[in-house]
Amino acid sequence: MRMRHKPWALPEMLQDPKFYLEPYDKQNKWQLEFGNDAPIDLEIGCGKGDFIRELAHRHPERNYIAMDLKNEVLVYALRKINEEGLTNIRVLSVKAEELDRVFGEGEIDQIYINFANPWPKAGHHKRRLTHPRFLALYRLFTKDQSRLEFKTDDEELYVTSLEYFPEAGYEMVYHSDNLPADHPDNIQTEYESKFRSFGMPIYRIDAVKQPITEERLGELLEWKLKSQQKTGRAVWTTYRKNRKPNPET
Ligand SMILES: C[S@@+](CC[C@H](N)C(=O)[O-])C[C@H]1O[C@@H](n2cnc3c(N)ncnc32)[C@H](O)[C@@H]1O
Repeated sequence: MRMRHKPWALPEMLQDPKFYLEPYDKQNKWQLEFGNDAPIDLEIGCGKGDFIRELAHRHPERNYIAMDLKNEVLVYALRKINEEGLTNIRVLSVKAEELDRVFGEGEIDQIYINFANPWPKAGHHKRRLTHPRFLALYRLFTKDQSRLEFKTDDEELYVTSLEYFPEAGYEMVYHSDNLPADHPDNIQTEYESKFRSFGMPIYRIDAVKQPITEERLGELLEWKLKSQQKTGRAVWTTYRKNRKPNPET
């Protein structure tokens, strides 16, 4: 959805210590930022943050990071976090494409992706947040066996994502083409409430990261290497150099 530009949003958020703009200098330091060693979970494309705020209320023993590329929505997420007195959430303005520069290896425990843009044109599929090239990127900063939960209203994106997850080395442990609104661990997002009010089915996939070979990871992350060569930023090679040997790969 196109949003009206809000020039006041970024200046307002920059006053708040819970907000971070493209925080590449915080890589590997997120537990210090939270001031504890609790696990850190991430929502990619959080919008106005209804979902992650409810999660943070339900699990005060965990830390949460809400991220989106639009300051116009993040500003409302941040206001509500403060109104509700939540201390276990931080808010990041950054593109998903750059998350490997924001988090270090194994820094994130679980990922949530809710109602991401379906990018229906074939030429745009690689922009989907569940495309194997993104799922491979997430591997760089998530723990082994880390869980990723994905919901969408888009049937074609759901069906194709059922193929994307195994391609990128994730085992699907749950999937539904009609997620009940009262599913015990379901928390409705802003978009989900809207789609449910139109009677539309909601699709969900839960997947768990499994080991894959370095060679396969390299293939899936070729796009990162290319953008790295263009910008001169060392990302993927830095990861490889620092990586501890894994006997299974
Ligand atoms: C359709 S909205 C869904 C918002 C919320 N998750 C919900 O379910 O109500 C998708 C959100 O993903 C964000 N988004 C899309 N592509 C992104 C990217 N590459 N990096 C970060 N955020 C992205 C958009 O800015 C938008 O806020």
